[in-house]
Amino acid sequence: MDVTRFATPEALAEGAADFIVERINRSQDRFNLGLAGGSTPAATYEQLRFRSIEWAGVDVWLSDERWVPHDSPESNGAMAYERFLHLAEGVNFLRPRYSERVEPDESATYYEASLRHVIPDGRPDLILLGMGTDGHTASLFPGTAALKMTDSTRWFVSNHVESLDAWRLTVTPYLLDRAQEIAVIVAGTAKAAVLAEAIEHPAGRYPIEILHDSDAVVTFLVDEAAGAQLE
Ligand code: 6PG
Repeated sequence: MDVTRFATPEALAEGAADFIVERINRSQDRFNLGLAGGSTPAATYEQLRFRSIEWAGVDVWLSDERWVPHDSPESNGAMAYERFLHLAEGVNFLRPRYSERVEPDESATYYEASLRHVIPDGRPDLILLGMGTDGHTASLFPGTAALKMTDSTRWFVSNHVESLDAWRLTVTPYLLDRAQEIAVIVAGTAKAAVLAEAIEHPAGRYPIEILHDSDAVVTFLVDEAAGAQLE
């Protein structure tokens, strides 16, 4: 696990955009990119508006999504679309289908089938993740069923998050294990203690620690505030 620190949230947003652009542009064929949700990556996604990327060669998907209508302000897909994807000419943007007449796990199963088409070798090129103050990542929250699916080969599942009283759809630990590269974008003082323990003294308390077992190249992109307690 590598850690790259940036002096400010603005420098982190630019640096994370550079990280993404560099990987897409060095790819010799189609590139698949899993997007993180939440609020932290929004500034990075805005930076992507101004970068030179051949989006027609990129398949973009979501490492997790809330179980809400596509146009909900809570939707990760809506946030990404509004921040940059509406300008990404030719991009193939895959979003999980939401419907009140569909069960969350049915939607997750359909979404997984579409992911298998754009990630034919089963090894995602780059997955972006965030981290919550409870150490969750994607929608793998502490104590939830999806986090415990260690013997499953599912790529994407529904997950009920009791602490939020909400359904989520999320990438599984299995697919995170198989990614070629993972970048975790973390900002703010509130996450500094959890980040330091999860990276330097993992004690099994935080879901983000599953990345220690991943075959992926894992890089934490953090601002000074989030990295303040790292040795
Ligand atoms: C989500 C995210 C989630 C997020 C963390 C951090 O759907 O909320 O995918 O895993 O990365 O909750 O969120 P912030 O960036 O808003 O702190």
